[in-house]
Amino acid sequence: MSRSAHPAGPRHADVLTEGHYSAPPTDLNALDKKVWARTVRRNDDGVVTVGGIEVSRLAEEFGTPAYFLDESDFRARCRAWADAFGQDADVFYAGKAFLSRAVVRWLQEEGLNLDVCSGGELTTALDAGMPAERIAFHGNNKSAEEIEKAVRAGVGRIVLDSFQEIVRVAHIAQSQGKRQRVQIRVTVGVEAHTHEFIATAHEDQKFGIALADGQAAEAVRRALRLDGLELIGIHSHIGSQIFDMAGFEVSARRVVQLLAEVRDEHGVELPEIDLGGGLGIAYTSEDDPREPHEIAKALTEIVTRECESAGLATPRISVEPGRAIVGPTAFTLYEVGTIKPLEGLRTYVSVDGGMSDNIRTALYDAEYSVALVSRTSDAGPMLTRVVGKHCESGDIVVRDAFLPADLAPGDLIAVPATGAYCRSMASNYNHALRPPVVAVNEGGARVIVRRETEEDLLRLDVG
Ligand code: LLP
Repeated sequence: MSRSAHPAGPRHADVLTEGHYSAPPTDLNALDKKVWARTVRRNDDGVVTVGGIEVSRLAEEFGTPAYFLDESDFRARCRAWADAFGQDADVFYAGKAFLSRAVVRWLQEEGLNLDVCSGGELTTALDAGMPAERIAFHGNNKSAEEIEKAVRAGVGRIVLDSFQEIVRVAHIAQSQGKRQRVQIRVTVGVEAHTHEFIATAHEDQKFGIALADGQAAEAVRRALRLDGLELIGIHSHIGSQIFDMAGFEVSARRVVQLLAEVRDEHGVELPEIDLGGGLGIAYTSEDDPREPHEIAKALTEIVTRECESAGLATPRISVEPGRAIVGPTAFTLYEVGTIKPLEGLRTYVSVDGGMSDNIRTALYDAEYSVALVSRTSDAGPMLTRVVGKHCESGDIVVRDAFLPADLAPGDLIAVPATGAYCRSMASNYNHALRPPVVAVNEGGARVIVRRETEEDLLRLDVG
């Protein structure tokens, strides 16, 4: 989809300079492959399909708003990551992006491991049959109960995030007569080029233990001393929605440097390093994400090179992509409600969901694209803001979007690339009912997370 001429006319000029778009796309009916799940097409009747099923049929059967997840795309992305890293590395899907029992089963079938960061995610993983040794447990403030549960289940690794936790996990493991495999999460001091709230490797934040001032080295010293712990490696996660590999390179280099220091001081070569997740995806046509094989090649090369020059055997690498696997596989389907043209400004298009099903626009100023999917249109482009039905003006789903000027209530529109951090961050604000996630695969569709009901809301309200 290219954005060239500006047929909307000068009326929009002032607004456009403030917005994210410089010009409307030449063809509003086109679907950019980059942002839509793999099986999404527009059929001969102009209706968009996923897995061969028309969105109008999906809306009838499952209602709106709803997330539709292309299962074959999800599985293909898992395989692409697993194949890219091969036998000598491990891919842990970051469950925080989106987790459900079905997802856990797909991961198992496709040979991936799972990163969880709460007792709830751990329970979901175990309940769906993920072998505990394939689970990594994260979090900057794990409770004693969560640690006890993880150790008892036999998780493959706990990623230690603080000095207190080193002692806590060692103590709990010992009290269960176990030796827990752990990694230490370090902050490598990289400023990742992403939104402040999702950058995690600069020093002034809550995650990890700083490499600077020898703190991480001290953490290693303490962990090696404790019988309840088997220190298997170092972990670094620099942030999220990152396109530039430079941050990962610096991170890998600094982690390997620590491994060399550990070898020099303790005569121990830690066998693993985890470089976290954070690879960016295309939310709009302007984003150009890297493919898993490019990422795998770049990371493996840096680690190998740095280890060779430090005289270390290359450790086993692991990575934790969340968004890059699930993000592109789903779209949110909405029905258009109120349409409010504001003369000289833009047209506000209200949908039947909003910040309760996608908080990312409000929280991170995230950009999305949107398309009319229940039909095609020959009408010219109209500058819109797609907003939800919540009681606040920050309830924006897509800040600047061109939609056909004949858009009408009852039309279906869809926002692509909502597989990650949308359902998982959904809320009941204004007592909204969280939408279902429907997995679509080769002509079949089934609910994997059902829509909330008013009974669900009332069930929690026990006052
Ligand atoms: N590993 C660790 C230790 C993490 O903290 C995260 C994300 C990941 C892996 C996965 O990152 P991904 O590959 O999905 O970028 N809610 C924010 C993202 C927060 C990410 C938190 N940690 C958003 O909607 O952009």
